[in-house]
Amino acid sequence: MFKIPRGTRDFTPDEMHKRRYIENSMRNTFQTFGYREIQTPMFENLELFTAKSGETIIEELYAFKDKSGRDLALRPELTAPVIRLYVDKLQMKPKPLKLFYFGSCFRYDRPQKGRYREFTQAGCELIGTDTPEAYAELIALAYTLLKNVGLKNIKLNIGNLTVLSTIFKKIGLTKDQQRYIIPLIDKALFEELYSALQDFNIENTKITDFLEILQTSDLEKIKKYIMEDETVSKELDKLEDIFDLLNNCFKIKNYQIKMSIVRGLDYYTGLVFEIEAPMLGAEKQLCGGGAYELISLFGGKDTPTAGFAVGFDRTILALETEGQEFPLPGVDVYVIPVNREMVKKTLEITQLLREKGLSVDVDLLRRGLSKSLKYANSLNAWKAVIVGPDELKKNAVTLRDLKSGEQKIVKIKELPDTIF
Ligand code: HAM
Repeated sequence: MFKIPRGTRDFTPDEMHKRRYIENSMRNTFQTFGYREIQTPMFENLELFTAKSGETIIEELYAFKDKSGRDLALRPELTAPVIRLYVDKLQMKPKPLKLFYFGSCFRYDRPQKGRYREFTQAGCELIGTDTPEAYAELIALAYTLLKNVGLKNIKLNIGNLTVLSTIFKKIGLTKDQQRYIIPLIDKALFEELYSALQDFNIENTKITDFLEILQTSDLEKIKKYIMEDETVSKELDKLEDIFDLLNNCFKIKNYQIKMSIVRGLDYYTGLVFEIEAPMLGAEKQLCGGGAYELISLFGGKDTPTAGFAVGFDRTILALETEGQEFPLPGVDVYVIPVNREMVKKTLEITQLLREKGLSVDVDLLRRGLSKSLKYANSLNAWKAVIVGPDELKKNAVTLRDLKSGEQKIVKIKELPDTIF
């Protein structure tokens, strides 16, 4: 027997029904926020991903050579591809540009529940504005997207990398030391962080203050800690404006300031945010995003960019963990011939109903009435149309409601309008 590759999954019809239902909800939310859908290839030139992150990222990628020796990679995410597309084709379009996408991503991760080697992201990029209202709307979109699919328990955390690097400077960390502690901060390993800072010979009181600032959600405390620095005060003022808009205009109050958000990707600059589903445990991050810079690196004319991506598969896991009920897949009508002679008429009626836009399935096994009715139930059909010789003589069929069991004789020409 052949096995499915490690870290990948098949989706059965029932699972696909669920996935499409959630995708439709998300697509609808993106559109209500004025975003338009785009698509980019599943593989790109490898350079697109190494340009910012360097060669070390190749370890995490599905990178390969094609038959002509070109270095390619399956995309690990869509931000770099979307900015490549923007620089190539959309730079002259009126700003801001609001683009959204759904797509498979591939990472050479160690698979576990909620972490796969092939997974789907639903994401967006906002190009050409960095006003507080632009950022507040972006965060509101991420939050609304997850609320609209029905999630109840989510946590929105908002941070800022400019502020974080000022906090780093304040206790005098070198670039190498910062690089060492960032993964510890990312994983909230504060005890290990404490020891690392002691190893760097930083005074205990300074370490305690530093750890407190990383974990506080009090903006005033952070402001006091940092004191005056022009760039950083601008960022803090902007954060305050964003919070004000989130609270008062978008009515989103359920968020935390979290300066320990570091984000794994190298292109982020100022604002960063994450949404998590605490019920999911280790792989609880449902969404990540923020402001970033890639355009000038890709040869375009600089303009602000920000965006986020939602992990589609984790969103479904979170919904299942919350016990969310999904609409069942089903068909409107199942059409059954009672004997062989009725097969042709049955197919004609099936087509007639399909032309009216109904979802219709038909017995293709000639298995008789009672087995066909059982099968129709397994398809979750609403109605059955039974085609028998006596009714057919009067140009009629039997219409049966499969939920209540009620049935009546209906003229074929009146059937499409009688079904629902
Ligand atoms: P990211 O945080 O790397 O950001 O990924 C976004 C989301 O994808 C994560 O929050 C998570 O839910 C999901 N995800 C990541 N890796 C896996 C995996 N191995 N298996 C299942 N789900 C996964 C980005 O990719 C950025 N491009 C987001 C962005 C857009 N920033 C600006 N614009």
